[in-house]
Amino acid sequence: MAIYLDHAATTYLLPEVIDHMVDIMKSQYGNPSSIHNIGRKAKSIIEKSRKSIAANLKASVGEIYFTSSATEANNMVIKRSIIDLGVTRIVSCHTEHHCVIHSIDRVVKEQGVTVTWLNVNEQGDIDLQELESILSSHTNEKTLVSLMYANNELGIIHPVEHIAEICKKHEAYFHCDAVQAIGKMPIDLSSTRISFMTASSHKFHGPKGVGFLYMNNDNILDSYIDGGAQERNIRAGTESVAGISGMALALEHYIKNRTSNFEILAELQSHFEAIILENIPSVIINGQKAKNRIPHISSISFPQSERADMIMFNLDINGICASSGSACSAGIEEDSHVLTAIKHPPQRKTIRFSFGPNNTKNEINEVIKILKTII
Ligand SMILES: Cc1ncc(COP(=O)(O)O)c(C=O)c1O
Repeated sequence: MAIYLDHAATTYLLPEVIDHMVDIMKSQYGNPSSIHNIGRKAKSIIEKSRKSIAANLKASVGEIYFTSSATEANNMVIKRSIIDLGVTRIVSCHTEHHCVIHSIDRVVKEQGVTVTWLNVNEQGDIDLQELESILSSHTNEKTLVSLMYANNELGIIHPVEHIAEICKKHEAYFHCDAVQAIGKMPIDLSSTRISFMTASSHKFHGPKGVGFLYMNNDNILDSYIDGGAQERNIRAGTESVAGISGMALALEHYIKNRTSNFEILAELQSHFEAIILENIPSVIINGQKAKNRIPHISSISFPQSERADMIMFNLDINGICASSGSACSAGIEEDSHVLTAIKHPPQRKTIRFSFGPNNTKNEINEVIKILKTII
């Protein structure tokens, strides 16, 4: 039996979400853009999902737009805000997800936008005074601040409410990739002034291939994908009715159980980190001393050794699913861009373990036992 500790990569579908989606796929095959009865039924499922997601985040219904992924939503915000809002400067940091960093690189290269990368310290934290001082300079430039809620490799949390206030004070747009935080952190979009927020269904036990963009009613972007008039002309393409509805149901479940899930995850994380330090004292927990951390991610660095080099392989053959913190570039293993940004010693081997509400302490104990024999 596999022990799945890779919930930051993706999550299993909730059984009730599967049943719900199967029902919809069987009975609601209409095209939501069709004006006949069967099409209208499909459309009403989409609108019900939009209402549910908006209510769960305290947003207005008209502020939620469905996309195929958070990758698409993040591309959309960064690329369209240049054209539609006249953004000429972006402020972000090197620990963002690649879909944000690569989108920024592209607009810098192709559209002459300037970018300022905030410094991150060794825990992954940014300095809000630096953000404030950057936003205080060149005030004539329309600026988009793009900072994620919770980091997908380290689990560290950026102080989103404080960032939102700073952006408001300096009239900058605030784009927040909330993929790892949605359903886990309390999010109230009626009180936190975020211009754009993005999410991905498969990170909270919904289906893959669906995500959404929250776009504050004051900052409407134009169409990123051209075609039909779906999503109020913002995102063309026939909607995945079952996917969208499954996502809304998964979010409803996760938010309903948010407090208890949070406690379970926090307990798993602290148990895991305490016993790994007890059994393998040479490990480093990346981001452990950050100001705030999400409870489902533990990034662990092992000291260099031949055994550590084979750790992913050995975890895999022992049935343990986790993620490597390195990427293979031209045949050479290198630290991920996030680990490089926090100046992690590259000779150490990093593994991200990420927990879900169904994991147990017994599973964690088993993983540590196996890790000890591997290392
Ligand atoms: C922080 C963050 N942003 C964006 C994404 C991309 O999400 P999607 O799989 O929906 O494209 C991920 C996925 O790992 C992520 O962790």
